[in-house]
Amino acid sequence: MPDLSTKIGALHLKNPVLVASGTFGYGKESEGLVDFAGLGGIVTKSVSLKPRDGNPPPRIFEVPAGMLNSIGLANVGVETFLGEKLPFLRGLDTSIIVNVAGSTADEFVQVVERLENEPGISAYELNFSCPNVKEGGLALSQEAAVTQEVTRRVKTVASRPLIVKLTPNVTRVSEIAQGALDGGADAVSLINTLVGFAINIKTRRPQIHTGTAGYSGPAIKPVALAKVYEVATHVQIPIIGIGGISGPTDALEFIIAGATAVQIGTANFINPATGTATVAGIEAYCREHDFHTIAEAVGSVQPW
Ligand SMILES: Cc1cc2nc3c(=O)[nH]c(=O)nc-3n(C[C@H](O)[C@H](O)[C@H](O)COP(=O)(O)O)c2cc1C
Repeated sequence: MPDLSTKIGALHLKNPVLVASGTFGYGKESEGLVDFAGLGGIVTKSVSLKPRDGNPPPRIFEVPAGMLNSIGLANVGVETFLGEKLPFLRGLDTSIIVNVAGSTADEFVQVVERLENEPGISAYELNFSCPNVKEGGLALSQEAAVTQEVTRRVKTVASRPLIVKLTPNVTRVSEIAQGALDGGADAVSLINTLVGFAINIKTRRPQIHTGTAGYSGPAIKPVALAKVYEVATHVQIPIIGIGGISGPTDALEFIIAGATAVQIGTANFINPATGTATVAGIEAYCREHDFHTIAEAVGSVQPW
């Protein structure tokens, strides 16, 4: 039986397959559909300081090989999360990673401070794709210096591992990952959604109320894999690979490219049990290829 357990700094996962923020709610939504104990972990929907209604509809649109979304970080806010969502999550036999959103460094710090004394959380993932209100709406992780500074601020109050989630909408994602590392991040996760756009030619309006939206799903996998590989070959930091993963073959590509773990997003909307099926497929691959541990596969990509 190959050992699929995975270490990301102080974060220990029973296997390298997590479900991605915003595609698995707060866990409860998939009760009865998924064997939670079979997952390496659950990343919650982004949690902000105050509840957010998010953007007006339409905010989801299906496109070939993926989807566009502009949910606008709709979430219950940290107090309701702690009172109504975390009690269910902490009872599950899997790691819980709380994804935190904010539009200023102070907001990230305040949410993490509020989460700090609560049991049942294994790590924080900081959603640095949020627009930075102070810097004219650029995503926090579109600038290495901002990424470093906000990470550093959060690190001073966080006793749990910090995963910094990066946007792919930059020229050199490895420079941003280096900023996260310099700020004290334990790992980076990438990618969040690409910028996409679709138009209804009858109305000539955008298909999504806000116009541009986040593009996710199978179509983005090669882009995500290239970004993960770029970080793996330039920055000494553990990586959680995300983007278009629909099964074990996709997940293994990310692991072989250098990711220590992976997250499954849009595929959960097609089958919420994609994560557990992916774990089973990775295990079969390890057996077939005589890997005793999944760690042996990480970054094992071969040159031509
Ligand atoms: C409907 C939807 C909502 C999402 N909400 C969040 C969110 O709240 N916070 C976050 O960090 N990422 C969010 N994401 C991004 C995903 O976690 C993931 O990074 C992205 O979709 C790429 O992975 P995928 O192609 O497997 O979906 C969301 C994605 C989708 C499709």
